[in-house]
Amino acid sequence: MANVKLTGIRKAYGAVKVLHGIDLDIQAGEFVVFVGPSGCGKSTLLRVIAGLEDITGGTLEIGGKVVNALTPKQRGIAMVFQSYALYPHMSVYDNMAFGLTLEKGTAKSDIDKRVREAARILQIEPYLDRLPKALSGGQRQRVAIGRAITRDPQVFLFDEPLSNLDAALRVQTRIEIARLHERMEGTTMVYVTHDQVEAMTLADRIVVLNKGHVEQVGSPMELYKEPDNLFVAKFLGSPSMNILPARIELTGESTVVLPEGGRQVTLPVATPGAMNGAAAHLGIRPEDLAVTSSENAPFRGEVTLTESLGEVTLLYVDIGRTDESFVAKLPGEASIARGTVVSLEAKPETMRLFDEAGDAIRPGQRRAAA
Ligand SMILES: Nc1ncnc2c1ncn2[C@@H]1O[C@H](COP(=O)(O)OP(=O)(O)OP(=O)(O)O)[C@@H](O)[C@H]1O
Ligand SMILES: [Mg+2]
Repeated sequence: MANVKLTGIRKAYGAVKVLHGIDLDIQAGEFVVFVGPSGCGKSTLLRVIAGLEDITGGTLEIGGKVVNALTPKQRGIAMVFQSYALYPHMSVYDNMAFGLTLEKGTAKSDIDKRVREAARILQIEPYLDRLPKALSGGQRQRVAIGRAITRDPQVFLFDEPLSNLDAALRVQTRIEIARLHERMEGTTMVYVTHDQVEAMTLADRIVVLNKGHVEQVGSPMELYKEPDNLFVAKFLGSPSMNILPARIELTGESTVVLPEGGRQVTLPVATPGAMNGAAAHLGIRPEDLAVTSSENAPFRGEVTLTESLGEVTLLYVDIGRTDESFVAKLPGEASIARGTVVSLEAKPETMRLFDEAGDAIRPGQRRAAA
């Protein structure tokens, strides 16, 4: 059981500053997922934790001990990368045992026990005698994970371990990793991914990174339902949340908002009177929109494109904005042809309001007047 605590972690390569002071407290046994756009510093942060990169500034603690100066080995960490890099001339068994045979003083029987236990956990026992080339991509990645398990780490680090796998194998191996976390109770896992479904399903908490700093940390549902800012709101969810420039018209215990391309909506959000007339952003998730016959629906426009994905249909609607499309995600197969004019509504409590700077204005939250 080991927690991982980052305090003011900075990383620069010469003049290039990559991480700008990351504070993060990862609990022992927690599954934490880093997400963020390409180049935001996810891999760098993972490599800093692993000890593969020097720390420019700040303190890294593992299990209550400052480890800034310790080697990767001394940190009790195992890392699994995107490319699994197995030794091609060694059997699965030998690949998994290799790291342990290098350690002096580990008995052969002990190595055997650890390899077989890892193989059992990952369900690769039938393949122990095979060479990697006789395995599928998913099986190979499980061997790579097995190699990490045999080292009995306190903390597991994964950098996009599934991104080389095809869709079906990715799902299967993702479930395998979730089970692995359950079976290895108390093992802390830190996982980097581009894949939203992986992030939402695996994480106890998600850390959204942007340009080397943390935008928000929270449970998947917290981030999805209550994003702190426009960046997080747009980053999670597919298709992205619709964001409409808007103007606050009237304030009080509820807020009347006039979005570009729509009629006024009244949100259960308290804003101070001084915000009357202020610029804002209204956010509406595609799945919160529904087609209605109501005369007073806030949004109305022509369907410019439909995409049927089987379980849902996406409607792209021209509500009279020039730059971005407005998307509704409807359940099932919606038989609405291109060119049809539709009215759309959403429950006020599902809509999100952000101030001009992009920070969330929350229900019941009173913000200082600008
Ligand atoms: N050795 C290095 N020297 C200089 N800059 C580097 C070095 N390694 C990484 N960087 C820069 O640091 C930034 C963060 O890189 P990093 O690999 O952590 O991004 P990432 O979030 O993992 O991206 P991706 O999603 O594409 O894997 C990038 O701008 C990258 O160019
Ligand atoms: Mg990366």
